[in-house]
Parts: sequence; C-alpha cells; structure tokens
Amino acid sequence: MAAGNLKIQVLDSADAVAAAASEFVIKAIAAKPKFVLGLATGSTPEKTYAKMAEANKAKKVSFAKVTTFNLDEYWGLDGDHDQSYRYFMNDRLFNHIDIRPWNTNVLNGAAVNPMLECAAYEQKILACGGVDLWLLGIGANGHIAFNEPGSPVDSRTRLVSLTQSTIDANSDGRFFKVAADVPRCALSAGIGTIRESRQIILLATGAGKADAIKAAVDGPFSPDCPASLLQDHPDCTFFIDKEAAAKLS
Ligand code: PGA
Repeated sequence: MAAGNLKIQVLDSADAVAAAASEFVIKAIAAKPKFVLGLATGSTPEKTYAKMAEANKAKKVSFAKVTTFNLDEYWGLDGDHDQSYRYFMNDRLFNHIDIRPWNTNVLNGAAVNPMLECAAYEQKILACGGVDLWLLGIGANGHIAFNEPGSPVDSRTRLVSLTQSTIDANSDGRFFKVAADVPRCALSAGIGTIRESRQIILLATGAGKADAIKAAVDGPFSPDCPASLLQDHPDCTFFIDKEAAAKLS
C-alpha cells in the first residue's frame, strides 16, 4: 500500500512488525557496515531491539562499525537516571550488541547549555555523513521524537516542551508512575533533522495508534500531525500492525 511517497506495510501482529523492522535494519547494515543509524525509545521498538540483539548474537549482523544517534532525551535527567533515554538504550540494545559505546550518541539531558548541546548534536550528525536510516515511533497525538503538534517542518534539534497528552502517555506505569515525575521539557531532534535521513522507518502497533496513523497517512501534510510531514520523504516505510492500520482508507 502507498500513500503519496509513503510505503505502508501492514503486518499481522506486533511481533511481525518487530521481525520486519529488524530485518530491514539488518539488511541495510549488511549493505553498508559503516552505517549511521537513527534510533527511538518507547515501548514500540523494544521488540525490534530484542530481535536485532538476537541477530547480532547469531552473527547475522555486526554493529562494530555502526554509529547511532537517538531522537531525544528528557531535559534535566542525566544518563544514569533509570528513566533517561540513554539508560533505556543501554539497557534495551547497546549492552546486548557489539556496538562500540563511543559510537552511540544520545543527547545529554544534563548539559549545562541546551542550545550548545543541540547545535553540537547536529554538527556531529553532519560530521558522520548524515543519518542513513532513522527508526521512529509515533505518539498517539502524531508526534515524532518530541516534536509535538505544531512543530515546524524545518525544525532542528532543540529544547521543547512536552504536551500534557505525552506526559500522561509516559506516566501510565510503563515508564514513569506519576505525571508529576515526568520532565516537562526535552531535547529533541527536529522534524527537519529527521527528514534529512536518507531512509526512514516508522513503527506503530496497537489500536491506540490508529488515529495518529490515519492522520499521518490519509490526512493533510500538516504540523497538526507531525508524522504527516514524512509524506513527501523519498524513502519512508511505515511498519504497522492491523490494529494501528484499522482506520486507514
Ligand atoms: P511508544 O511511544 O512507543 O511508547 O508508544 C512512541 C512515541 O511516543 O513516539
């Protein structure tokens, strides 16, 4: 199925989404071992990361020459905090694969100067030759990374405020237990930053993402649904399960 430039793969289950996404990443790395891989946090990619780690253990892929950049980090949390995205990535993926720790990049949520931190991140992406493939999730409100509705199509890595719906979604017990503990701000790659990736894959599973997927695919190209701003990307594939696809026309 294709909507505009988007390629849409509807899979039977969340497990099938993880299998397809990890296969996609593994093939891309096999074709270019010195790969620059963009990554996301959240519940959705966890199974994909487990499959990537399994494949690495089985020697089907090596991350030894791969460099990674993560989308975002909570502002005010340092990487040792168990809810920081640096901690998440070490715990779910980096500690289980042969990647060199110094080739993994996550924005520093404890940086003294957030503007300098964000500018340096953009510079580092450029110095690495740009991102080859960015793996994304999607928020129930259509956000990609912490680019909440209204984020400009040309936005760059910056300090952003989280919407109440994102704070609520991240304090439902999967991550934070209460909304009061969720940081109100984050450092996030911009939509312009993400759109410059040569390839993009977006993963979505479950009925809670059906409205966001509908708006991203069938809705207008509009900052009202940040993920719709991927519609004109030359090489973007959505891997979604049947439940997330349920409202597509
Ligand atoms: P989730 O988050 O995978 O935990 O649903 C996705 C997102 O907010 O981008």
